[in-house]
Amino acid sequence: MVSSEASLHYVRQDSIETTKNKKTLKVVDKQTGQELTLELHNNTIRAVDLAKLGVTLYDPGFLNTASCISRITYIDGDKGILRYRGYPIEELAEKSTFMEVSFLLLYGELPTSRELEHFSHRVLRHTFLKQSLVDIIKATPKDAHPMGLLVSMLAAEGTLYPDANPAINGDDVYSSPRAREKQILRLLGTMPTLAAFIYRHKMGRPFNYPAYGGSRSYTENFMYMLDSMEDPSYRPNATLVKALDTLFVLHADHELNCSTAAVRHLTSSGVDVFTAFSGAAGALYGPLHGGANEAVLRMLEKIGSVDKVPAFIEAVKNRKARLMGFGHRVYKSYDPRARIVRKLAYQVFEICGRDPLIEIATKLEEHALKDNYFIERKLYPNVDFYSGLIYKAMGFPTDFFTILFAIGRTPGWLAHWLEYLDDPDKKIARPRQNYLGSDERSYIPITQRNSSVKYSTDYVSPAEKRRVNGFAVAKM
Ligand code: CMC
Repeated sequence: MVSSEASLHYVRQDSIETTKNKKTLKVVDKQTGQELTLELHNNTIRAVDLAKLGVTLYDPGFLNTASCISRITYIDGDKGILRYRGYPIEELAEKSTFMEVSFLLLYGELPTSRELEHFSHRVLRHTFLKQSLVDIIKATPKDAHPMGLLVSMLAAEGTLYPDANPAINGDDVYSSPRAREKQILRLLGTMPTLAAFIYRHKMGRPFNYPAYGGSRSYTENFMYMLDSMEDPSYRPNATLVKALDTLFVLHADHELNCSTAAVRHLTSSGVDVFTAFSGAAGALYGPLHGGANEAVLRMLEKIGSVDKVPAFIEAVKNRKARLMGFGHRVYKSYDPRARIVRKLAYQVFEICGRDPLIEIATKLEEHALKDNYFIERKLYPNVDFYSGLIYKAMGFPTDFFTILFAIGRTPGWLAHWLEYLDDPDKKIARPRQNYLGSDERSYIPITQRNSSVKYSTDYVSPAEKRRVNGFAVAKM
């Protein structure tokens, strides 16, 4: 047990400049003959240098645009490599824990045992929710989507800490290391409690408050809040705790994915970190990103049986369906996380029983990996392909899966938030557009206009007709 909360101060070790490859790129404007020599740093040019030629980069979806320099996570998509702060994901998944990996992502180095004990202890001391958050959860419908609730709860949580809100206390609120650490502890601490309370609310069960002060780990505490039936001595199954903890490790960061990019984007406006997290959770909710684990499950259920797999693969190739849990913007080979998740699934099945949908999933993978459509496009299973099956085997409701991803991604979002705050190149995120709309034209009086736009006045729902007719205000 650590006695003094303020006795340790973590220093991030990532402030060394690494621009080794001094190369240049010559760009010639063939119309004017103007030449530009651009410096290449780590194979990257500064897009703003191209402005000297009056050129803008057009890159919808950021296929080839780096929006920051980062030292947190490295991915080599062709080789299927993922490393947090240089450590291979395979080693971390096998040997580390979620708390240790959180420390690593946030502060740049693996913790000593004293640092880890101190850090975990402090996180667990920030797991209680303020009563108004509990009241909001209670006031929501039981069938509300857990991610919709999480998005709202994170924004609501931000309103409870005016001390940490740049809108109230000025944009230097986060300049103090203590203020930053407080937000880290609050977010890492309350995320599993929010998730567990949302779950218990959905199940119509009373909430279990965090097992504060005990010897439970972060993930064990989360499972205690989910599953204890008013028994403070309840201990979840150790293998399942380890499996979930490993899943959190695998999800902890993934460089500039859609939700992490959203954290940086929102933070760039100066908004508080809770609102930035609410935006990130919104991005994660989408089925092309974190919502894919839920979408995979729904897809497998819809396919229904192994004999329907070939027909489904054909539908995907004919663009009538999408193979959820396959493909990735960065990985053009097997996602290293998916390999680990697949192994983990069988460990969980030993305790909770084998989910029959695994047969459909393995058959889908088998078919896809030998089909030219997928081979040519380098489409392989990603982390979401098998994780949903583990969650289902563990008895989580399908719409709860993405919230588990959100718990795991919290340290990554926080590490990027910290890195952004200290970035000497930071600027408000404000992309340029390639304007192809109308030239200047004069205002036309309403009586002289001809409708030429796709605005439909045709459809009025039966319910609207009923309402409108009831008041007899208008005849449609
Ligand atoms: N099923 C069928 N075709 C696909 C798939 C898929 N899952 N993914 C990509 N393609 C095709 C796509 O139609 C395109 O074909 P074509 O060149 O003939 O038009 C080609 O492959 C390139 O795909 P893209 O959509 O341009 O690739 P992207 O990098 O923009 O999208 C992706 C990446 C993850 C959004 C996409 O692969 C996808 O929609 N996958 C399914 C959803 C999913 O599993 N998401 C989880 C991602 S991993 C975890 C996370 O980050 O949250």
